[in-house]
Amino acid sequence: MRILSGIQPSGTPHLGNYFGMMRPAIQMQEQNGMEMLYFIADYHALTSVRDPVILRGNVRKMALDFLACGLNPEKTCFFLQSAIPAVTELTWILGTLTPVGLLERCHSYKEKKARKLPSSHGLLSYPVLMAADILLYDSDLVLAGKDQKQHLEVARDIAVKFNEAYGSVLRLPAPHIQEGMAMIPGQDGAKMSKSYGNTIEIFLAEEILRKRIMEIQTDSTPTDRPKPTAGSTILSLYRLVASPSDYQQMLDEHIHGGVGYSTFKERLFEAVWLFFKPLRKRREELTTCPEVVDQVLKKGSTHAHAIANRVIERVRSAIGLR
Ligand code: ADP
Ligand code: TRP
Repeated sequence: MRILSGIQPSGTPHLGNYFGMMRPAIQMQEQNGMEMLYFIADYHALTSVRDPVILRGNVRKMALDFLACGLNPEKTCFFLQSAIPAVTELTWILGTLTPVGLLERCHSYKEKKARKLPSSHGLLSYPVLMAADILLYDSDLVLAGKDQKQHLEVARDIAVKFNEAYGSVLRLPAPHIQEGMAMIPGQDGAKMSKSYGNTIEIFLAEEILRKRIMEIQTDSTPTDRPKPTAGSTILSLYRLVASPSDYQQMLDEHIHGGVGYSTFKERLFEAVWLFFKPLRKRREELTTCPEVVDQVLKKGSTHAHAIANRVIERVRSAIGLR
């Protein structure tokens, strides 16, 4: 069973990325019979990052962070999307079969437009590149967060159209959506996202991390009064990093009143700091030997290349390019 997933290097990873995607992917590599392919989607990142120095830095940080978070290069093929340029060729080929309306209906495109982010052809055809990512590696299962569900459906739709036109050439992957994982909120209560500037990064320096957590928006309920629990950003985040008993205690204190938001935030900060402490240590060790990261990515791209070549040759031959 081949499992594929990708992440954009559009900024440093945050709690939403870690709990929504990095941790589940890393846990999956431990299961028997799974061949994991994991890439850093640097072509996709071009839809939002225009500075080459920033992009290069982000890619490096993302690779470091993934390895620090437990990605094991012996078990997972870890590579850069752009190391396999055949993916852009497949994007073009799939694009010729993709109705524009299908792309215009994608929530993430509509949301970015509504937020007045610059709309480009790349932003609209983002799901086509994602379909190419998925189909180029003959993946059986694609791992992604809930917010990517529609993009995975689009990938399947495109694969079906291709196979209807040219025969059974592309393997249709099944989505593996982290349904159980609720959307992780950012400081403003909306989905934590690099695009929305409401993120709490996992490897921040101590004081910056504290500051980010103190910025979480709360209502003006006085200390002695009970506080709302539904939709509470503090509780949602605390649940992820605290022990069940500490979480229960904070929940009870919300219900009964008597503890202020700043105390809750301080406790949340402590729990986040402790949770990521061992990972932070591993990251520091990796930072001192950058060549390890390069070697891992090189090894990963050699393996990915071999798979991609077989698929793109099959596609070329099916459509009449050869
Ligand atoms: P961002 O929205 O910050 O740009 P990405 O789109 O790069 O994040 O998301 C990378 C992965 O992390 C995706 O699989 C996505 O589902 C997951 N993810 C991102 N933000 C969250 C969140 N707030 N809650 C749960 N999962 C998330
Ligand atoms: N668009 C995905 C995200 O932002 C990243 C991604 C790119 C991806 N290509 C993919 C995820 C293919 C799964 C499969 O999270």
